[in-house]
Amino acid sequence: MKAPAETVVIVDFGAQYSQLIARRVREEQVYCEILPFDAPWADIERRNAAAFILTGGPESVAAPGAPHLTPELLRTDKPILGICYGMQELARAGGGTVVPGRHREYGRAELVVDAGGSPLFGGVPSSSQAWMSHGDTVTDLPAGYVALAHTSTCALAAVGDEGRKRYGVQFHPEVNHTEHGRLVLRNFLREIAGLRDRWEMSGFVDAAVRDIRAAIGDAKAICALSGGVDSAVAATLVSRAIGDRLTCIFVDHGLLRQDEARLVVEAFRDVLHLNLIGVDARERFLGALAGVEDPEEKRQIIGREFIEVFNEHAKQIPGAEFLIQGTLYPDVIESKTPQSKSGAKIKTHHNVGGLPEIMHLKLVEPLRMLFKDEVRRLGRELGLDPHIVDRQPFPGPGLAVRILGVVDEERLDVLRRADAITREEIERAETDHPWQYFAVLTPLRSVGVMGDGRTYGNLVAIRAVTSDDGMTADWARLPAETLQRISNRIVNEIPAVNRVVYDVTSKPPATIEWE
Ligand code: XMP
Repeated sequence: MKAPAETVVIVDFGAQYSQLIARRVREEQVYCEILPFDAPWADIERRNAAAFILTGGPESVAAPGAPHLTPELLRTDKPILGICYGMQELARAGGGTVVPGRHREYGRAELVVDAGGSPLFGGVPSSSQAWMSHGDTVTDLPAGYVALAHTSTCALAAVGDEGRKRYGVQFHPEVNHTEHGRLVLRNFLREIAGLRDRWEMSGFVDAAVRDIRAAIGDAKAICALSGGVDSAVAATLVSRAIGDRLTCIFVDHGLLRQDEARLVVEAFRDVLHLNLIGVDARERFLGALAGVEDPEEKRQIIGREFIEVFNEHAKQIPGAEFLIQGTLYPDVIESKTPQSKSGAKIKTHHNVGGLPEIMHLKLVEPLRMLFKDEVRRLGRELGLDPHIVDRQPFPGPGLAVRILGVVDEERLDVLRRADAITREEIERAETDHPWQYFAVLTPLRSVGVMGDGRTYGNLVAIRAVTSDDGMTADWARLPAETLQRISNRIVNEIPAVNRVVYDVTSKPPATIEWE
């Protein structure tokens, strides 16, 4: 997709919050892209940025080898907002002084605005909470800058060169703990940079349809539907562009949730009228998984079988030249975090990874500039049913990562029933659903008592988490009554289960899935 006229470029110095900054900017309906700090100037220039935001980062600006701004960027006359490290880098480059580690400040602080007239703080009270996280501090301002705000330990918590529209904030406006952070960002985008466009999904659809037509021409394309939101939205968007020259292949690997295969086929074939081939490969997958306990081995088997099954069916579609994939922006961004300095961190969904090469297909990724919440909005814009758009993320390898130990028809049946009860009760009780909620079948068995008899049954764990992106998560504080109903129903309705536990671990250190 071509970037809209008003694009903000976020220069990433490896902050843990870079993606959050991008999401906040998009929430303000301003289109933005994240580029690593050392992106060639030509890449940055090509975006024709209307303004720049410089992120925080883990390094110290004065340290040898610390990441620095491209000199060309410093020569631009476009507005710049530096956040944390970004502010220190602006100060350093402008000839100011940055002192390492004298006053470390982490957590909430009272932000006092000294320059109430500054457009950056329009509408922000003179005193409010802000989130700080820094070791280094700017102590001497570069020429042209004035102090705009302070905290008790940081005299220069916000600075600005109002004439050149360059600003720096030592606090993090992107995090929720900064009370008026969104307003500060909005002020920068709308009041200072003067951006007027509203980046909306309807506009995105038109532009994306044009781009997809241009890319695919008169050729045919195929898409692997998983039942998840991303592939559903990608397929629907592409079918808008090229109609029935798109064929979707849905592989039922037997590891789906209750009724899911039927619902997916109905939704896409009968309601959306997509050209859909449904493949029943349940026996094949379960045969390949027989007796396998190791989680990584399970994943590999499922990935391999998926590619083979998909390939067999795709080969029967003559003239297909393109493969549609629902890759999202977080998987595309070249992360410059200290852990992955060496380069691009690009996650391919394991279940279609490798397919384009094997099949000699060209890849089309129409969602590659979108975040998950934007994909959901796009799905709504395209008229997809809420039960598809709002569904929780579901891993490609399906219930195989939620059955610890051997995966067979019997254990799948137990888990499907426990999972259906869990979802039903949470959806009944909660108005705002957690990010993910599901049941896990453990290999543990324990003693119980039912009626007059002793039982020796399976242990089911319930997992429900809140999260923004699945990268970090916290366990959901479900009401005790909901947990009680889930537990009662599972042990009463599923004879093989006699004990239910609730997982109260966050990620990190745990992961969301158990495997
Ligand atoms: P973990 O368990 O790593 O999961 O905390 C993070 C998020 O990713 C989902 N997940 C997957 N999604 N293919 C997918 O498409 C996979 O192989 C896969 N494994 C985990 C998981 O459900 C959670 O939302």
